[in-house]
Amino acid sequence: MKDKIKEIEEQINAAVSDIQTSKNLMEIKMKFLGKTGEISALMKNMRDVPAEERPSLGKILNALRQRAEERFASLEEKIKKAELKKRYAEEKIDVTLPGKDMPDGAYHPNTLVRQELISIFSGMGFEVFEGPEIENDYYNFTALNTPADHPARDMQDTFYLSPDLLLRTQTSAGQIRVMENKKPPIKILSPGKVYRSDDDATHSPMFSQMEGLVVDKGITLCDLKGMLDEFAKKIFGSGVKTRLRPSYFPFTEPSVEVDVSCFECGGKGCRLCKGTGWIEVLGAGMVNRRVLEGCGIDPDVYTGFAFGMGIERIAMLKYGINNMKLLFEGDVRFLKQFKG
Ligand code: DAH
Repeated sequence: MKDKIKEIEEQINAAVSDIQTSKNLMEIKMKFLGKTGEISALMKNMRDVPAEERPSLGKILNALRQRAEERFASLEEKIKKAELKKRYAEEKIDVTLPGKDMPDGAYHPNTLVRQELISIFSGMGFEVFEGPEIENDYYNFTALNTPADHPARDMQDTFYLSPDLLLRTQTSAGQIRVMENKKPPIKILSPGKVYRSDDDATHSPMFSQMEGLVVDKGITLCDLKGMLDEFAKKIFGSGVKTRLRPSYFPFTEPSVEVDVSCFECGGKGCRLCKGTGWIEVLGAGMVNRRVLEGCGIDPDVYTGFAFGMGIERIAMLKYGINNMKLLFEGDVRFLKQFKG
């Protein structure tokens, strides 16, 4: 037994001097110290040793195991350190090398205007509601006091998907969806894409609108005018004035076109305002009583105003863009001019 112990100690010494990697170390360690390893086997053999020899042999064997454990432990520490050093050396990067240039993107002018409008109106207490782009005839026209034979349907060349379904021509359709589902007080903003069969320098078959609707007791045209003054100053500059001109929309009565004093020339007359000193920015009016009634809102109790504007139009005015196509072509040379 003593010889066997000595032999194992020598084997360990020999094996240890050869070990290079932690994997190798683990294998050798298991071979001697593992559950079925050499030292454990000797421990089991103790049963066959005469009782009087057991204590002294046991001591020797325990000492061997302890020495072996210590050797392996210190070796493990050394090998791990060496391996880590090697890995660091291999994975070393030169942090002084110049980085790859990642050019910043910019928001599209439409997005900028949309965000600005939402920010202005939500500051006045409006909530955003987005309706569907595929609408049925009822929401886009009939409920907006524009029945099938109404001449105002010709104001908007509509893309029909079926006799009843169409691509909405105006975000005004969202007004009805809101009024059907919510009772006054109502104060919503409805941005979104709209579609019309129309195409030139200032028109596109797809464009975006922003609709607003306020319904409550005692709402008057003065409230509309006051709110628009505030809005125009915020978006075009504090010196800007607004004026209302009579107009016609089937879903409002009275209806108005809203002009702002030209922020380019201050109202003297220039190319932007075509010499008039005023620029048309949106349509608006008091919600027609028939529209309220159709949505189950009593027009003798509640009144409201609505307004709708083209987001591209506002963007073109605000940034001096002369062709609407620029807003849809995605030309990076154009878009990068809007970097914040
Ligand atoms: N829907 C109209 C259009 O597309 C714009 C408009 C006018 C919206 C008057 C309104 C409004 O809410 O009151 O031409």
